[in-house]
Amino acid sequence: MQKNIAISFTIISILLVTLSLLSISKLTELSSITQKLYNHPLTITSSAKNIKFHITSMHRYMKDVVLAKDKEELNIALSHVESSEKIVYEEFKVINDKYLGNEEQILKPYLLFVNWKAIRNEILFLKQSNQTIDAANLTKARGAQHVQKLYKAIDVLVSFTDAKADYFLKNAIEAKDTAIFFILISLITILLIIMSVGIILTKNLSKNEIARKKQETYLIHQSRLAQMGEMISMIAHQWRQPLSSISTAVGTMRVKYDLSSYDLSKEDERVHQEEFMKKRLSKINEYVQLLSSTIDDFRNFYKPDKKPTLINLDTIVQTSVKIIKSTLEDKNIELIVEYHADIEIEVFSNELMQVILSILKNSEENFLEKNIKNPQIKILTNRNSISISDNGGGVPITLRDKIFDPYFSTKSEKNGTGLGLYMSKIIVEDHHKGHLILENRKNGVCFKILL
Ligand SMILES: Nc1ncnc2c1ncn2[C@@H]1O[C@H](COP(=O)(O)OP(=O)(O)OP(=O)(O)O)[C@@H](O)[C@H]1O
Ligand SMILES: [Mg+2]
Repeated sequence: MQKNIAISFTIISILLVTLSLLSISKLTELSSITQKLYNHPLTITSSAKNIKFHITSMHRYMKDVVLAKDKEELNIALSHVESSEKIVYEEFKVINDKYLGNEEQILKPYLLFVNWKAIRNEILFLKQSNQTIDAANLTKARGAQHVQKLYKAIDVLVSFTDAKADYFLKNAIEAKDTAIFFILISLITILLIIMSVGIILTKNLSKNEIARKKQETYLIHQSRLAQMGEMISMIAHQWRQPLSSISTAVGTMRVKYDLSSYDLSKEDERVHQEEFMKKRLSKINEYVQLLSSTIDDFRNFYKPDKKPTLINLDTIVQTSVKIIKSTLEDKNIELIVEYHADIEIEVFSNELMQVILSILKNSEENFLEKNIKNPQIKILTNRNSISISDNGGGVPITLRDKIFDPYFSTKSEKNGTGLGLYMSKIIVEDHHKGHLILENRKNGVCFKILL
């Protein structure tokens, strides 16, 4: 059973971890895609825009180079061109680092940009050689064409980036859907597993419950059998007195008969004799009835209770007392009973008798063991409780929690099975939903059966 639970929970844990890891990996993928989605197109587009802007301004400053009136103006225009050129190279570096497409796509605008330098140098050379018109023409013609080519090559980069962004977006949506799918599958699987484990556990528990009930019934039966020996000695005690009375009655009849000290021919003697015989016979009959009723009491005690019966607790105590009374008297144990139950309640009477007899027997055994002077047991009934107290010295505090445990006994093995109070507790608390409690009194114990 425990092995099954452990296996089920290990499977659940492994599944949970696997599914969680899968979901986490999908979510990480989703977040990296989002990151790329955010970084790639944005960086490339802004760098490409910057490149285009600086190419435009370089192109414009090249016109200033051509139109420069003096050396100073020329240098200023050239320095603008150079600073823009520097920025363009830096932006190409950024694109190179971030670009996710084919490297050749960057190489093309890059080389175009590098080659533009040759045209610009040519223009500068013409300007410095005072061929201003040729320089202007070169700028407008080949220079401008080159710049257009550069623009186009850069646009290819941007359009690729846009396409990549669409691709990332599609991937992100797919990753999100997969992650949701995994999470849903995980939830459903976990739910199914938990439900199955629940069903298995409930089934096993109810199986265990049935086994436990069977075991209990068996133990009740066992402890009743164990009480059988005690019962026989109780019967012997109870039979002793009526049997000896029967024997006395028979004896006196026999003596009278043997001595024949009567004369049946005389009317008064005949009547006297008849009276004598009738009296003895009815006494014998009385004793035989008593013997037979004792047997009935004991026989009833062994009948298992199939259904609860509506009964006054006084009746249960009376029957129990009837069974054990002579045994207690024989051992000089004083029994005081106060009956106060005024209504009938539903109980398993034979089982309750078993509880009362177990408690009384324990008191009796304890008196004997501790050699208690003036042993006394008091029984008090109420409408739904019975309390039984004695003056046997009580149960040591260290043992108080243990005495209701199965097989716990301070008596030697052959005298005590340790099942008496355990069974009593099951009968009172499980079968009757009541309480069986132990209270230590000044000079003894008090067991309370609360129903
Ligand atoms: N009235 C009592 N006074 C002192 N100790 C008691 C009393 N009743 C029970 N006990 C203690 O509780 C223990 C458990 O009692 P329980 O009836 O369960 O078993 P047992 O009497 O030892 O054996 P069994 O009843 O099966 O023959 C006893 O061994 C005894 O130590
Ligand atoms: Mg006992």
